[in-house]
Amino acid sequence: MTTASPLVEVRDLTKTFDVSAPWLNRVIERKTRQFVHAVDGLSFGIARGTTLALVGESGCGKSTVARMLVGLYAPTSGSVHFDGEDSAKTLASSRAAALRRRMQMIFQDPYASLNPRWTVRDIVSEPMQEHALFKTKDEFEARVGELLQAVGLTAADMAKYPHQFSGGQRQRISIARALATQPEFLVCDEPTSALDVSVQAQVLNIMKDLQRAQGLTYLFISHNLAVVRHVSDRVGVMYLGRLVELADKADLFTRPRHPYTRMLLDAIPDIHMSGRERSPVQGEVPNPLDPPGGCSFHPRCPHANARCQAERPAAFEVGAAMVACHAVQEGRIG
Ligand SMILES: Nc1ncnc2c1ncn2[C@@H]1O[C@H](COP(=O)(O)OP(=O)(O)O)[C@@H](O)[C@H]1O
Ligand code: SF4
Ligand SMILES: [Mg+2]
Repeated sequence: MTTASPLVEVRDLTKTFDVSAPWLNRVIERKTRQFVHAVDGLSFGIARGTTLALVGESGCGKSTVARMLVGLYAPTSGSVHFDGEDSAKTLASSRAAALRRRMQMIFQDPYASLNPRWTVRDIVSEPMQEHALFKTKDEFEARVGELLQAVGLTAADMAKYPHQFSGGQRQRISIARALATQPEFLVCDEPTSALDVSVQAQVLNIMKDLQRAQGLTYLFISHNLAVVRHVSDRVGVMYLGRLVELADKADLFTRPRHPYTRMLLDAIPDIHMSGRERSPVQGEVPNPLDPPGGCSFHPRCPHANARCQAERPAAFEVGAAMVACHAVQEGRIG
């Protein structure tokens, strides 16, 4: 899977937000500037036609990665290459629109992301209009109908409004809209997190079918490892802006290495292959404005020692996996 050149390649990607109080307040209250290192030195590739999932608790930087990949945020440093080209350079050039057409994003909340005053026809066709992707009205109607059918709705649904649909159907409308430009790459930021469990499965299945039929490449973001298990080929686990483990799905689920990955896996109810007891996730993500030194996971880690408190673990390769943990590197845990 890692042999062919990846469609998406991210190197040392970093995003820092300046969250300082306004200048006058800082002077009066004698405060210094404050920064959040939302994404801190991420590197990964996504092979064509495959799904990389990014998981981690809320605030770990997943959405910030998503936004950088589709060009909604500029990276503070590092790069994103799409099909071999540096996205930042392409987005600053006359070829920006052509690149934007090739990648689309699906957001978490299908209620908030669809304009309630627009018909489904208007919503789904907006990207087609933006990119001038049709010539005649007949062609336009046929294409909108096709897109709706591709996600399990009907052409007749195009005359309706979002409120006439359920949550799962609305998310299908969002997917149809994302497909309108015939993208190769879809960034899905918690696409099913707002939906009931039974509906989640339907939407995930539609996404998988579309991937197979159209050769789509996905970045799939979720805080839920159980969901990721259905849809991913490779999984990256994020903690406080850093990638702590990256592995093929089967490897990660049968042989998790990083203590944080183990903690997330232990919390999944119906995982039966390891015989481990289920135990809820321990502790909370620390304040990102003041992250712990050394390994930022050390306050929650059962294997932490003095080195963990002092020294940030560098990522190293174990077979096709990548992990950043002193205990794994030292062979303290296997
Ligand atoms: N636009 C922004 N301005 C300032 N801080 C932000 C902004 N977006 C995200 N953050 C901060 O960056 C960190 C990562 O956020 P986010 O990428 O949304 O995480 P996740 O999607 O994993 O929940 C959080 O601490 C969040 O408060
Ligand atoms: S580096 Fe240390 S604290 Fe961090 S995950 Fe590994 S054992 Fe735990
Ligand atoms: Mg998010």
